Amino acid sequence: MTETTTTLPTDAAHRDKWIEAGRGWGARAQEWAYLFEPYALPANQLVFDQLGVGVGSRYLDVACGSGFAANIAHRRGASVSGLDASEDLIDIARARTPDGDFRVGDMFALPFDAGSFDVVTSFNGIWNRCDDALDQVRTALTDDGLLGLTYWGAHQRMGLMPYFITVIQHSPQSHQAATMELGETSNVMADMLSEAGFELLDQGTVEVVNEWPDVDTAVRAMAAAGPSVPAIDAVGYDNFCEALREVIAPMRDEGRNVGVRISSELGWVTARPT
Ligand SMILES: C[S@@+](CC[C@H](N)C(=O)[O-])C[C@H]1O[C@@H](n2cnc3c(N)ncnc32)[C@H](O)[C@@H]1O
Repeated sequence: MTETTTTLPTDAAHRDKWIEAGRGWGARAQEWAYLFEPYALPANQLVFDQLGVGVGSRYLDVACGSGFAANIAHRRGASVSGLDASEDLIDIARARTPDGDFRVGDMFALPFDAGSFDVVTSFNGIWNRCDDALDQVRTALTDDGLLGLTYWGAHQRMGLMPYFITVIQHSPQSHQAATMELGETSNVMADMLSEAGFELLDQGTVEVVNEWPDVDTAVRAMAAAGPSVPAIDAVGYDNFCEALREVIAPMRDEGRNVGVRISSELGWVTARPT
């Protein structure tokens, strides 16, 4: 990480925060990468189609996790970069796409030169209260570049809601509000974009589906998601998994013998610098 364009103060408290986020998301990196992250495929493809990601695109994925989306962009011919707070997830991203430029770092201090990218995305990475990350993205994009974001959609179409409720029930109070705030992103996204100097181009929703062969695998996958970490720290891995098992078991489609299939809605937006 040599070049940097950040103008934000990288104070110790902030540094601790992104490092802690990275540790949480990386705690069970393989499970997250292989059992959870592929659920976003329909959203990845839709956003890449909207933004015309293909041969020649200089593409950055912010909060790229294990680089699942970046690998799809690579297969479409883009030259890909990714940034995530978790070193373990970045290791997987590098294994998935050896040609990519993947960096461990903070989305509030992007370590890329200004105007380096034609397309920047963040799939469920830039949320409510991440306004400063959008400022960083604006700097990293060319003036005629394009931005695509996804975030959780309407509560009533969130099949994963029992997971989030279980997280909230078992997390310390200090983390409960943070989990709830994620759900508010769709209400504030338009304002966040315009304040960061973006014009909204298009928006919509897309259905994503988590597919697992059985309840134990579903529980293992959900326990690997970052929001699970404070709950696991509070009540222990086994107790948290038991609580998840209770809410997930009834969701198994026993009649059709198709394992656990949980459908949720993501919101998406595309935008360009004003
Ligand atoms: C919900 S996951 C999304 C991962 C991936 N984009 C996907 O589609 O599944 C959120 C990701 O944001 C990363 N993250 C959290 N805070 C971050 C920060 N300040 N800077 C960079 N990455 C961060 C986490 O490590 C995690 O991989």
